[in-house]
Formats: sequence, C-alpha cells, structure tokens
Amino acid sequence: MGSIRLGIIGLGVVGCGVANLLRERGSALATRFNASFTITRAAVKDVKKSRDAEVDPSIITADPFDVVNDPNVDIVIEVMGGENPALELLLTAAKNGKSIVTANKRLLAIHGEKIYRAVEDAGVELGFEAAVAGAVPVIGAIKTGFAANRIEAIHGIINGTSNYILSRMTLEGKSYADALKEAQALGYAEADPTFDVEGIDTAHKIAVLASLGFETPINFGSIYTEGITRLTPEDIGMAREFGYRIKLLAVAKRVGDSLDARVHPAMILASHPMANVNGALNAVEIKGDFAGVNMLVGPGAGAGPTASAVMADVLDIAGRMVHGVAGKRSPMITPASKRVPIRIRPVDETRSQYYLRFSVPDRPGVMAALSGALGESKISIASMIQRGRKEGGAPVSVVMMTHVAVEADLRRALAKIEGTKICAAPTMVIRIEGGEE
Ligand code: NDP
Ligand code: HSE
Repeated sequence: MGSIRLGIIGLGVVGCGVANLLRERGSALATRFNASFTITRAAVKDVKKSRDAEVDPSIITADPFDVVNDPNVDIVIEVMGGENPALELLLTAAKNGKSIVTANKRLLAIHGEKIYRAVEDAGVELGFEAAVAGAVPVIGAIKTGFAANRIEAIHGIINGTSNYILSRMTLEGKSYADALKEAQALGYAEADPTFDVEGIDTAHKIAVLASLGFETPINFGSIYTEGITRLTPEDIGMAREFGYRIKLLAVAKRVGDSLDARVHPAMILASHPMANVNGALNAVEIKGDFAGVNMLVGPGAGAGPTASAVMADVLDIAGRMVHGVAGKRSPMITPASKRVPIRIRPVDETRSQYYLRFSVPDRPGVMAALSGALGESKISIASMIQRGRKEGGAPVSVVMMTHVAVEADLRRALAKIEGTKICAAPTMVIRIEGGEE
C-alpha cells in the first residue's frame, strides 16, 4: 500500500472540511485507492484559535513555509487564500518537488501562467478543481470530458454567496444585508465579501475556466466586472414581471478571433434551467463544437463541497504517485508554454438587449427626451412600463426593455440623458442574456 503525506496550509472553512473528510472517510479511501492519506503538517495564522476539526496540535505551525519545505510532505494543499504569500509558497512547493492542490482562484486568475509553467518545469502536478464551482467537477469536465471539443462558450453562475443573496431576495423578499449575513455564517463568503458581491470572485473563476477551456493566457484586468450591490428589490420585481430572473452571470465565449469575457448581473428567461439554480448552487454551461450545450449544477461553496473537490484532486494525483507517473501531466490541456493569447473584446463591443430603469419626474417631455436620446443612438425600445404617479412630484421609475443594441451606442445615449439632468439617480442598466439575437 502507498502512503501519501499531505501538508495543508489553512485550517479555516475549507481546510477543516478536508480534515473532517479525511477523518470520516480516510480508511475507506485507503482501501479504495490502495494508499493511506495522512496530514503530516498544517499551517494556520493563529495557532491558538479553536478549530472545527481535530488536528494533532504537534503538527500545526504558524509558518506556512514549514509546510512547503517539509520533507515529510508529498502533496501541499493550499487553502489559505490571497495572493501573498500564497504565490511564493506554491512556487517553493513546486521547486521542492511537491505536487500542489489549491482552491485559490484569485491566485490562479492573476498568477496562473507563472504557476502553470513552474509546476510543468518542476515535473510536479497541480490540481485546482476546488477553485471553481465547489463540488461541481467543471475543471475535470473541461480537461477530460470535453477534451475532444473546441470549446465555444462558457456561461456560469459561479459565486455561491451572490447567488444565495439574489435567491433569498427574489424568492423570500429577504433584505440584501440579511442574506449576506446568512451566506457568511454558512461559510460561503470570501474573507473579504466584497470579492463575492462585486463580481470579483466570479471574474477570478471565469478567468480560470476561460484560460483552461480556450487554452490561452488571460489578462485578468481585461474582464469587465460588475457586481450585485446596485440591484434593488424593484429591479428584481420588474425582472419577474417581464418573465426573467436576475443572476450574477459569468460569460466567456468566442466571437470571431476574440473572446467575449465579462461578469455582471444578467436577466435570464425564467424558463431557462440557469434561472432556477438557487441558493449556493452553482451552474456552468459549456458549449463544445461536438458535445453541444451541457450544464453542470451543484453546491458551489462551503466546507463539504469544497473539501470534496480538493480531495478529488488529491486522489487523482496520488493515483499517479503510487504508480510512479506523477508529474507527467500538464495542469492545462495544452502545456502552458504552447498556449496562444486571445484578444479579450472590450465590453463596448457587446451586443445585447438591455433593461433600463430611469428615475425621472413624471412631467411632459420627459419620455420624449429619453426615447429621443435612445433613438439618436440607434437604440430601439421593445417595451416600456411606468408605474403610478407619486405625491409631490417625487421621481418615478420608467423601465424600458430594448431590442439588441451595441453597448457603446447605449452608453452614448445614457451619457446624453444624464447631461439633460432629468434623472434623479443613475440609470440602472441590466443586460439580458440569451434574448433575441
Ligand atoms: P478561511 O478564511 O476560512 O481560512 C483561511 C485559513 O488560512 C485560516 O485557517 C487561516 O488561519 C489560514 N491563514 C491565513 N493566512 C495565513 C498565513 N499567512 N499563514 C498561515 N495560515 C494562514 O478561508 P476559506 O477556508 O473559506 O477559503 C480558503 C481558500 O479556499 C480561499 O482561497 C478561498 O477563496 C477558497 N475557496 C473557499 C470556498 C468556501 O466555500 N469557503 C470554496 C472554494 C474555494 P487562522 O484560522 O488561524 O486565521
Ligand atoms: N466565496 C465563494 C462563493 C466560495 O461564494 O462562491 C466558493 O468559491
């Protein structure tokens, strides 16, 4: 029987999830994989903190470099998060001949190329299934299941926290603040939840998926990113009335020689399967030229689902270690050195239908000013609603759905409308995904 020694950096939500999975399932896994799995070293920030898992205190250190430099560690599991010192730790682990499993999408989105090349140069392995969509095996699906395809498009609901918040607001009328608190208590949110609600975590994940699926280095800064913090219960209600649900959507699709890569709230037809992915569930829709459109759905965050994905990578790598062939496999489909950069299309070139909510006074000439400015920029209105008349001339909401338009044209029209000073608040713009072409 083989013996696989694990060094774990971080014993928070995910790290404790891994330790608990091993405690409960370790001997069954040993039998199934003909190898024992033991945590031989663990690093945390505060060694005195109480933990949700039982880990031998004698193996715990406050210096994460103790883990990557420990000769009694075969696989380093990095579940600490952040860019630094995580980057240096992973590069050191690779240099020391250790394979790596990480859940750190932020690190991969920003420093992926450096890490992929370092592990290939060192002849070690890198697993990052846990970095995107929790338990949903989307990395494995792209790397192996759809390996024969040219991937055309990836769409995803890939942040559990924001999906949880939007679902609670939509289905139960919960407030944004209460729903966020619940998501944090359930262990879904990042250490800084701004990453979740401002779309940054989703952008990290789509960068990782796009880099893998489209076999290209991705410049993370080129991904247009917008979060859910400006959405109001009124927008959520209006979306329902028009037959849509609002989701924080990640998009990466080929458009000619470019890649359309963006993250923003989107209206999705209520009848689309993605519209019914609620709570902390994630969904990833992958379109391959031969496979067609496939959708994977499952728990996208939390201790158990993420530990499941971390251990999937550990078992995959361990299987090759036991047979002496570990390190022969690139973390990407095509080795990092052979990948070709693709231009990311600026968001201004996006073509979409749009939901617009103007906050304007209810008086003659206002509607003409709005529709005139839109018309001058070639934006055609598909439908419009104005609700009630407010006492004392308070602004009302005028909601319009447009036909397909180019984003740059829309921005020009909105700038003109803002210039007239008729709007009492910035106009809400939500893209409609999968509407008319
Ligand atoms: P937590 O904040 O719960 O845990 C982080 C752990 O890392 C803590 O144990 C912390 O120590 C330790 N740590 C932080 N800095 C250092 C340091 N400098 N040296 C040693 N240890 C350190 O985070 P999560 O478990 O939620 O997330 C971990 C990673 O997994 C992140 O990259 C996250 O994005 C990713 N992830 C999280 C998911 C989730 O659902 N939570 C899902 C998928 C990925 P201490 O406990 O002493 O503070
Ligand atoms: N904070 C992340 C989320 C964790 O809510 O999806 C899973 O990556």
